[in-house]
Amino acid sequence: MTLRIGLVGCGNISDIYLTNAALFKDVVFTACADLRPEAATAQGAKYGIPAITPAELLGRDDVDLVLNLTIPAAHAEISLAAIAAGKHVYTEKPLATSLEDGRKIMGAAKAKGVRVGSSPDTILGPGVQTARHLLADGTVGEVVTGTASVMGHGMEHWHPNPTFFFKPGGGPVLDMGPYYISALVHMLGPVKAVRATGKMGFKERLVTAEGPMKGEKIKVETLTTVNALLSFQSGAEIVFLASWDVFAHNLLPLELHGTKASMRVPDPNFFGGKLELAGLDKVWSPVGTADKPFGALNWPVAGPEHANYRGLGIADMASAIKGNRPHVASGDVALHVLSVMLGALEAADTGRVVEIAEQCERPAAFEPGKILLAAG
Ligand SMILES: NC(=O)c1ccc[n+]([C@@H]2O[C@H](COP(=O)([O-])OP(=O)(O)OC[C@H]3O[C@@H](n4cnc5c(N)ncnc54)[C@H](O)[C@@H]3O)[C@@H](O)[C@H]2O)c1
Repeated sequence: MTLRIGLVGCGNISDIYLTNAALFKDVVFTACADLRPEAATAQGAKYGIPAITPAELLGRDDVDLVLNLTIPAAHAEISLAAIAAGKHVYTEKPLATSLEDGRKIMGAAKAKGVRVGSSPDTILGPGVQTARHLLADGTVGEVVTGTASVMGHGMEHWHPNPTFFFKPGGGPVLDMGPYYISALVHMLGPVKAVRATGKMGFKERLVTAEGPMKGEKIKVETLTTVNALLSFQSGAEIVFLASWDVFAHNLLPLELHGTKASMRVPDPNFFGGKLELAGLDKVWSPVGTADKPFGALNWPVAGPEHANYRGLGIADMASAIKGNRPHVASGDVALHVLSVMLGALEAADTGRVVEIAEQCERPAAFEPGKILLAAG
């Protein structure tokens, strides 16, 4: 059975999904839609699929799954409408911008008997999955402490429509946190509690990216620096630093320190990357990921620098539905991750320790052999 995808939200990120669909045997795009008809028309013409309205798309019999690539503030509305129409959903991160909406989505899907998948699916790549394996087989030992960091100077320098990044529901925690916190949950299991501090580094951001907003100022209405301490159920204590107020830094994306070794985990914003292990001699030894499934550099197409197989999570959903097994990039993990991120923002606002309300099971390891590649 082929999973037929209807795309809602034909913006910046839609190209990679539409391009990568050709890699997988079990998925096909059958329609696309957007609030802005011209955006849907452009992607429809480029990829040879009908461009229709969101309402028409939800009514189509040839759409089994709605791929929700709208802005975060619209995620809940679109996902809930898709579920009400009896469609599976795969949504870009975050699952929703409030815990109430996240719970509604998961509750509605359960009641309707449809599945919810959520970005990031980078955690299915060999970067995080190899790290997960090295934790499971005892190479690293019990993780004691670690750091995850995602820091830079914001989105207004490259994104043509960056307003949503600086409004409630945006900010570096909700925007980039899903990659780092999901990776940690896949490797270490769920988070128990969070402490944090936060700041709004700049009151306004000047858009310098080429596009319709160039030269405009955006009023900042969300924390743009959050320093959080995540206490995991496993006992691991991980510092998570998320900021759009930093010009340059020397921190690595993700380091875990276990009772047997320290491990540098590849940046979970990508599928593969550089993994290294070190012991008492402090010599870092590389562990290859580029030769593993979905680790080869493929993006950008013109001169690949990263492994970018966005859409792999949907291909896994297609295979999981067929095989009657759970899919790996699940809504359950996304709801827990949302609970952690909102917990960090609440902790930063109140100065209190926040217990994480929504828990999840640590997902099973991803088995790439179950995904059928179009070329294979
Ligand atoms: N741009 C990236 O590099 C990137 C990377 C990873 C994830 N994401 C995620 O992907 C999602 C989309 O990001 P983007 O950069 O493509 O944003 P974008 O603003 O370029 O595109 C979003 C599109 O959704 C449409 N839209 C908004 N509300 C809608 C609604 N109610 N119904 C139908 N269409 C609606 C907009 O018209 C727009 O075309 C976000 O959740 C973002 O976090 C983006």
